[in-house]
Amino acid sequence: MSQLSGIAILGVFVADTTYRTPRMPAWGETMLGAGFTLGPGGKGSNQAVAAGRLGAEVRFVSRLGADAFGEMAQGVWREAGVTPCIETVADEATGAACILVDDARGENAIIICPGAAAGITPGLVEARSDDIARSRVVMTQLEQPLDAARRFLEIGREAGAVTILNPAPAAELDDAMIGLCDYITPNETEAGMLTGVAVSGAESAREAAEVLLRRGAKAVIVTLGEGGALYQDAEASLVVPAFDPGRVVETTGAGDAFNGAFATALAEGMDPIEAVRFGCAAAAVSVSRAGAAASMPTRGELDSLLT
Ligand code: RIB
Repeated sequence: MSQLSGIAILGVFVADTTYRTPRMPAWGETMLGAGFTLGPGGKGSNQAVAAGRLGAEVRFVSRLGADAFGEMAQGVWREAGVTPCIETVADEATGAACILVDDARGENAIIICPGAAAGITPGLVEARSDDIARSRVVMTQLEQPLDAARRFLEIGREAGAVTILNPAPAAELDDAMIGLCDYITPNETEAGMLTGVAVSGAESAREAAEVLLRRGAKAVIVTLGEGGALYQDAEASLVVPAFDPGRVVETTGAGDAFNGAFATALAEGMDPIEAVRFGCAAAAVSVSRAGAAASMPTRGELDSLLT
């Protein structure tokens, strides 16, 4: 365990095309938006950028097309100090996401097409076994195929890493997959979809966490937006309050900021509750500005919020 260092993240990069809007359009309707941006996104990549900006040694496993969006990925990873462990394919396109942001409240709705990253296989993950097995923390989400996520967590578990699954977007998971998680980190919607409990607030999050613990997770963290985050394991259950972000500009990437910072804190040896607090601080900074990867905090910003 002592030679393990840094974080390996398996996931997807896509280019986020973001449209600010006063309301959702109806089917068949064309409406004028309030602003547009193009920038780096994809949950796994955002988490890698968050961890890299906070000073973690990060290896990111994924698959890209050889195109302009793929170059955008390489650029944002370079800036954040993330080491790419990437298969690049000439005949497939890097993916994209369509993000609608409520111009007044900052809430979002997202459609993601993973493009080349949809071709991530257990074989691609196995080809990166050495990078995964030397990491102290391994983390993935569910934007790439489930069998690849499973293989990634298995390799991490066999090597003695701390394993984190951010089950986003929610998918049906069997008990064997949940049993591979030292930490599973759904938001309220995902916790509800995974457990059948209607989750809204801390009490129902506790019920959902109980289900996930029974199904084999060692600890559950349900992120509750402005309610902070519920941490629950076999011995403890407590809510870590959110930090006040000031005005919420855009919520895209807040969950990724949380997960990237949480993984960074665990890799540095913080205890899980401290790590959740670190994650909540990162999420607060992220919602105070626009963009996904672009909104990830620096270490200095988190340190000043946490002191
Ligand atoms: O979590 C936010 C991310 O979800 C966006 O960057 C978008 O690309 C989708 O993957």
